[in-house]
Amino acid sequence: MTDRYAVIGNPVAHSLSPAIHQAFARQTEQRLRYDTIEAPLDGFIESVADFFAMGGAGCNVTVPFKEEAARFANILTERAELAGAVNTLWLDDEGVCGDNTDGVGLVRDLARHISLRGRRVVLLGAGGAARGVIAPLLDEAPASLVIANRSPDKAAQLAEHFRELGPVSATAFDKLSEAADLVINATSASLAGASLPLPAALWTDRTVAYDMMYGKGDTPFLAQARAGGAVPCIDGLGMLVEQAAEAFFLWRGVRPETASVLADLRALLAQG
Ligand code: ATR
Repeated sequence: MTDRYAVIGNPVAHSLSPAIHQAFARQTEQRLRYDTIEAPLDGFIESVADFFAMGGAGCNVTVPFKEEAARFANILTERAELAGAVNTLWLDDEGVCGDNTDGVGLVRDLARHISLRGRRVVLLGAGGAARGVIAPLLDEAPASLVIANRSPDKAAQLAEHFRELGPVSATAFDKLSEAADLVINATSASLAGASLPLPAALWTDRTVAYDMMYGKGDTPFLAQARAGGAVPCIDGLGMLVEQAAEAFFLWRGVRPETASVLADLRALLAQG
């Protein structure tokens, strides 16, 4: 029997997850199948329950169902509990387990470009995507983690929630008056093609700009960072591959090599 996996989201048709997991499976000689499942916006629970009832071994969960997936799981890992969101589900003897591998995926990809210890980090956004990466970022011992959001009260709530884990604070975009070593975009503004009202003081020629989104060419945020002088400007394709590798490890007990898979995807995206 070939074990079945899938990514559940809406929309999900253009997800790169099947290509990534199939590449991991070939590389590690695992037999598995990985599909996309588009759940109706009000039908995530039925879709995921159906997937497991039909013998599914595990699934990834993407926008907009990660919070619902956290409620669906019987057992959450500590990092999923903290994030309040789940991107990886699987079955074990005690029921459906849920984990969140987004934060570790971001931190592993960032490690290719910058060491976070002692750095001034700014995180833009206070939605689900931001929430999922705060604890893993604080684990890396930055000097500060400032959460900035269009609605500052949401940033303040997040900072309060994670306060015991490290030097985290909140502000509004226009109050970002100091230069940062790393600026991470976790807003969904790029999806709408919108840029953010960020002060010029944020950027130096050593600021690393990282967008958790990706696409062909610069996202609006990366174009903005580049114009501000930030070097380097990195998109979230590496994070996508790293979060997938961690999910694959949870499911299969084997850790795939990621650099070659990322290079292949990058080439595919450039052709795109
Ligand atoms: P996700 O799961 O992708 O994080 P979300 O929970 O809806 O989605 O959060 C979206 C985030 O992007 C929020 O921080 C939102 O800001 P608000 O809290 O003020 O709504 C931010 N966002 C979305 N569109 C934006 C835009 N055009 N400009 C600035 N911030 C934007």
